[in-house]
Amino acid sequence: MGLVTCAEILASAEAGGYAVGAFNCNNMEIVQAIIRAAEAERSPVIIQASQGAIKYAGMGYIVALIREAAASASVPVAMHLDHGTDFQQVMLCIRNGFTSVMIDGSHHPLSENIDITKRVVEVAHAVGVSVEGELGRIRGVEDEVRVSEREAFFTDPEEARIFVRETGVDALAPSIGTAHGRYRGKPELDFDRLAQIRKLTGVPLVLHGSSGVPGEDIRRAISLGVRKVNIDTDIREAFVAEVRRRLEADPSEIDPRRILGPAREKACQVIREKIRLFGSAGKA
Ligand code: G3H
Ligand code: 13P
Ligand code: ZN
Repeated sequence: MGLVTCAEILASAEAGGYAVGAFNCNNMEIVQAIIRAAEAERSPVIIQASQGAIKYAGMGYIVALIREAAASASVPVAMHLDHGTDFQQVMLCIRNGFTSVMIDGSHHPLSENIDITKRVVEVAHAVGVSVEGELGRIRGVEDEVRVSEREAFFTDPEEARIFVRETGVDALAPSIGTAHGRYRGKPELDFDRLAQIRKLTGVPLVLHGSSGVPGEDIRRAISLGVRKVNIDTDIREAFVAEVRRRLEADPSEIDPRRILGPAREKACQVIREKIRLFGSAGKA
């Protein structure tokens, strides 16, 4: 079917009231796990690569892998840059065929975040690429944040309204209590804030740090306007746990295919479960 933009995928999700998984990849096996899961569930899918993933695999390799996944699949696939922080890097991704980019200016003050996001939107939209912005800081679980300071990182709904109006982003990633990586305790999501942000911006919202968030919370977030759900850690864990298990089961194994093949299958199972949870199964 080939590549489509995130904006197209999210417009259908908006109309259908479901969300689409955006799954992080670093290598061929994970790209294959994602596309096999999407095909098996007849679901649109967003395959995303972070700057770290691009550095690890190489721009040419990662683009070729995702392009091949899209070309050989019969479901809509978007190739998305996850957490682009640098204008040049985002431009390079657009030039190399990404159909959607995230510009994460959340570490800047509001006006600078608006400036850099607006510059990206101007170029990206001119060439038919969609843009996700981030406002408020989405933490890593490793960042020590005192409870009293927790909400200082959250997105202010009024600022979100201004940010979306000024930048013209296609989707917004707000900070409402999720964090990247494995949670130590139960994540506490601020659903009222999420509802308010949705009401004031009207754009599809993106939930980052979604690994380890209970299914009922994910469903509630989707009912309040989340249309893209980012998953990395749950895939990494399933993949690496199987690699470990295979190596322990047979320390003399030297064929990488016998180690990575089963790991790919475990990752695929996790992704299929997520797709069903998000409500996008059968929508392609
Ligand atoms: O949000 C971050 C993603 O999990 C990607 O992580 O920068 O280690 O590739 P990474
Ligand atoms: P997790 O690794 O917590 O699933 O977060 C993924 C993410 O938000 C990628 O942008
Ligand atoms: Zn993220």
